[in-house]
Amino acid sequence: MTQPTLRNKFPILSHSTYLVSHSMGAAPLDSRERILEYWNSWNDLGITAWDRWVPFVDDCRATLGKIIGAPGRAIAFHQNVSTLVHSVLGTFDWSSSRNEVLISELTFPTLKYCLEVLKGTGIHIIRVPSRDGISHDSSDFTSLINARTALIMIDHGIYRSSAIIDIPPIVQVAHQHGARVLVDTYQTAGMYPLSVTDWGVDFAVGGSHKWLCGGPGASYLYIRPDLLGTLKPQLYGWMAQREVFGFAPDVQPADDARAFMTGTFGIPSLYAAKVGWETILEVGVTPIRQHVLHISHQIIRLAQERGLKINSPLKDEARGGQVCVGIDNAHKIELLLGKEKILLDSRPYCGLRISGHFYTEEREVLACFNALDSIIKR
Ligand SMILES: Cc1ncc(COP(=O)(O)O)c(C=O)c1O
Repeated sequence: MTQPTLRNKFPILSHSTYLVSHSMGAAPLDSRERILEYWNSWNDLGITAWDRWVPFVDDCRATLGKIIGAPGRAIAFHQNVSTLVHSVLGTFDWSSSRNEVLISELTFPTLKYCLEVLKGTGIHIIRVPSRDGISHDSSDFTSLINARTALIMIDHGIYRSSAIIDIPPIVQVAHQHGARVLVDTYQTAGMYPLSVTDWGVDFAVGGSHKWLCGGPGASYLYIRPDLLGTLKPQLYGWMAQREVFGFAPDVQPADDARAFMTGTFGIPSLYAAKVGWETILEVGVTPIRQHVLHISHQIIRLAQERGLKINSPLKDEARGGQVCVGIDNAHKIELLLGKEKILLDSRPYCGLRISGHFYTEEREVLACFNALDSIIKR
């Protein structure tokens, strides 16, 4: 898995100990070439570069779709997940009797913020508590679903514990009650084999700068194909029209997920991200998951040998990519390790977040724990 040729494709690995792909995947060297290719098309073709860029966006939708198990036409891109979530929330009528949204107390904060700014529209937000402060059983959600439930918003992987939520049982009960499900796959896509189609979810979102090694600005929205054309986007613009350069006098949304792409597309981010997606497909998500688990076992063992608490589920099937290690002064430790070019991160309620990706070697995890020992002794 960690052959030198593969590691050479990520220059940061040669001058740092990189254990932070759950937060920012390493930059592929080929991204630099593709960004240059983008500039060359802009410079050589000028305004006619759109003739290349519009089909390029369709290629990007198809490529990303292979990772998350979706047809390209069901995918829209935007700069970030927050915008895409707002776009989805805009398709609901919060003044109706079906106005409840279920959301975990452990979810990444931006999803909660997107909901809370809608207070006053009639929306009723229900915070779903976790029994252990780390994870969720699907019944935490299913027990609260009823005829008033409009939407269940779930993170597939929890950012502050790495717990995995079992999606299909939630989708099944939600659909029995006429509710919809949105899953945030930011913490798992590219590292954990998944298929939004097999899950049967209505919406999925995520971004490219973590496990997908694609850099910021290339977030995606999946819409269940049979819903395409039935939803009325409220965030809208001319590039979401059926004919992108048709300049029709009235609103004529594309009949696929491009109807959610508003105005001018973020072409440079997509050029950078496509290299990351292609690399993930080349290496393969299943082998990536196996290697990530292997490295996670080492992290858990070394942390436990030092008496540190693991704030992630211990069972492999219940844990995503990073291991959360409870330790006092986690943020300070993160900064001290950073000075030694050992890159990981920390979060409140969690401690240190440490992970390996397909390019990580065991010796790097060992180096991290040796450096941690020296810091603790000081
Ligand atoms: C689960 C999850 N969702 C969303 C985001 C980011 O949201 P946005 O793209 O709006 O910055 C993150 C972290 O960057 C995340 O971990």
